Amino acid sequence: MPSYPPEPFRIKVVEHIRRISRAERQAAMRAAGFNIFGLRAEDIFIDLLTDSGTGAMSDRQWSAIMQGDESYAGARSFFRLKEAIESITGFGYFVPTHQGRAAENILCALLVKPGQRVPSNMHFDTTEANILARGGRPENLVIAEAADPHNRHPFKGNMDIGALRTFIEREGAANIPFGMVTITNNAGGGQPVSLENLRQISETYHAHGIPFFIDSCRFAENAYFIKLREPGYADKAPVEIASEIFSLADGTLMSAKKDAIVNIGGFLAMNDEQLYRRACNELILREGFPTYGGLAGRDLDAIATGLWEGLEVDYLAYRIGQTAYLAERLIEVGIPVIEPPGGHAVYIDAGGLLPHITPAEFPGQALAVELYLEGGIRACEIGSVMFARTDPRTGRMVHPKLELVRLAIPRRMYTQAHMDFVVDTLRAIAQRRASLHGYRITDAPELLRHFTAHFEPL
Ligand SMILES: Cc1ncc(COP(=O)(O)O)c(C=O)c1O
Repeated sequence: MPSYPPEPFRIKVVEHIRRISRAERQAAMRAAGFNIFGLRAEDIFIDLLTDSGTGAMSDRQWSAIMQGDESYAGARSFFRLKEAIESITGFGYFVPTHQGRAAENILCALLVKPGQRVPSNMHFDTTEANILARGGRPENLVIAEAADPHNRHPFKGNMDIGALRTFIEREGAANIPFGMVTITNNAGGGQPVSLENLRQISETYHAHGIPFFIDSCRFAENAYFIKLREPGYADKAPVEIASEIFSLADGTLMSAKKDAIVNIGGFLAMNDEQLYRRACNELILREGFPTYGGLAGRDLDAIATGLWEGLEVDYLAYRIGQTAYLAERLIEVGIPVIEPPGGHAVYIDAGGLLPHITPAEFPGQALAVELYLEGGIRACEIGSVMFARTDPRTGRMVHPKLELVRLAIPRRMYTQAHMDFVVDTLRAIAQRRASLHGYRITDAPELLRHFTAHFEPL
């Protein structure tokens, strides 16, 4: 039996959840058009849809909220957040935003011109969309190991440095307004990037005069993976590792809804004062005055406190240990998952579990629906519903390499018993896997269909 690290907190406030009856779950699922995004949260027992903005804030964060200064300009809350960001990242300038994608929007509005290219290990979907919205073209250059679900490479989020050099030479540095890396690599399974790789990325961008921005939503989880896995870092504190990471870059975009453990918020931080001034202009236009951005003063205080809490070593040992526990127990009962597990989620290989359901009949969708019907658990399909595309040249449907279901774990929210319940539910489903059937889409919008499509069982 894998070990489960004890939670480095105790519970002071609880939120009630309930498991409605199977007949009620069936009715709820039918009413939602067999789309888990259409379910009401109160009808869900364990919600593993996302780790973004769903974590539990601490007593220290709630008391920081009471200290929030709601002055329109120059609020104390702004300066408290500035101090936290500066101490951890070293960046001297920042603008608060309502969440991560607003920071992406500002950076892309300022720097991306039509036809320009922006490389990364893998862009998250909102980052990709913001680059495309400015006429730019994103490029993903993650190492080949990332595509193999059973390759246990310790840093599967690393960038392919050879491919990056070739890309810059081919496209020309003048056509690359900035380069990125995402830590951890959410789109690639929450996999970390090593410091050695981050140094090489930084050197490569800087050798060509290209500014380097880190998408750092899960920077603390990435720092902890470096502590665990990279030679020479075992004795360093996560905050020291985080500071070393940020020292390699010119700026960072962060959705604070992840490793700052808040329900809303984000920021764009940088070294360049000129860029900061331009960011302020964009911020005033789209979000708000530079000392509050898109947030209330109290939100800034919750982020300032959460940034430090997210870096505590006991918390990170529990956080990464909880994800590893869930993955190891699932492997133990014969459920195929992406290995090694990432920081914030466990990805089930639904295609491997349900080989009798073809990609065109959406095995990930079938598993996500069944998880709800069996256990009241909500998880997200990341497979052909989300990513299958018609090739405009051939008119044929192109399916993604893997048909996955993501179990994203909210921070400080669920206990070992909840994780065990998820394992038991999946074991029960796996035992009667042959009886599961595929789905057909009955109604879908043109873009981002996974959010609102309706389905019918086959
Ligand atoms: C890696 C990454 N970048 C950016 C974002 C966007 O952040 P937000 O949802 O706060 O807009 C997310 C959100 O999940 C993410 O995981």
